Amino acid sequence: MAHHPRQTTGTVPRPAPEVVASFEAATGFMPLDEGLALYAAAVDAAARTGLPLLEIGTYCGRSAILLAAAARDAGTVALTVDHHRGSEEQQPGWEYHDASLVDPEVGRMDTLPRFRRTLHAAGLEDHVIALVGRSPQVAAVWGAPVGLVFIDGGHTDEHATADYEGWVPHLAGDGLLVVHDVFPDPADGGQAPYRVYRRALAEGFAEVSVTGSLRVLRRRAR
Ligand SMILES: C[S@@+](CC[C@H](N)C(=O)[O-])C[C@H]1O[C@@H](n2cnc3c(N)ncnc32)[C@H](O)[C@@H]1O
Repeated sequence: MAHHPRQTTGTVPRPAPEVVASFEAATGFMPLDEGLALYAAAVDAAARTGLPLLEIGTYCGRSAILLAAAARDAGTVALTVDHHRGSEEQQPGWEYHDASLVDPEVGRMDTLPRFRRTLHAAGLEDHVIALVGRSPQVAAVWGAPVGLVFIDGGHTDEHATADYEGWVPHLAGDGLLVVHDVFPDPADGGQAPYRVYRRALAEGFAEVSVTGSLRVLRRRAR
């Protein structure tokens, strides 16, 4: 297997420049500082567990690039779950709609082709398993532990809660939980991910890092 050196800044792992370039070129909304924090958590989780790294909310693969790079370098794999029909806020007429992502034949969003092209262009498609389906349905039949759960799927209470309840039981004891779009102030954004984050803190997780709206958590020692 080819060796893919990582840059390091102090003790914080940083993706190789070509991985950062692929991330920045990918369709999506995650800013670089949050991506770097996600990558550092992924490297940490892979090193401490050796287990696959799971994402809920693939969209076009922007954050999956980082999980795939971390998984590749640790000899594991990234898993990414999405029905690829877009979240509420990505539908026509809503703030985050991108008309270029609509399948004209079906008349609905389909982010899977863009995701596949993105991971191919990044040279990382062999390091990601795309799970196409509804997160709670996939979680209900999933039977293996994962080293990281990154919640970035639907941002309603129904979806964010189902992602938490469906996937945290699959998280290894020493794995990491990452939640995106955590906004303590309602003026900054929707509150469902914040409520999931609060629930995790109340249910035995402790905060490891805060970067923008990205929260990294790990289980407290008992
Ligand atoms: C905010 S986007 C993910 C962004 C991506 N993580 C990135 O950084 O580029 C949310 C995604 O979650 C997906 N999604 C929403 N609800 C879902 C559900 N219940 N099951 C599976 N995927 C879902 C949508 O289709 C959408 O692609």
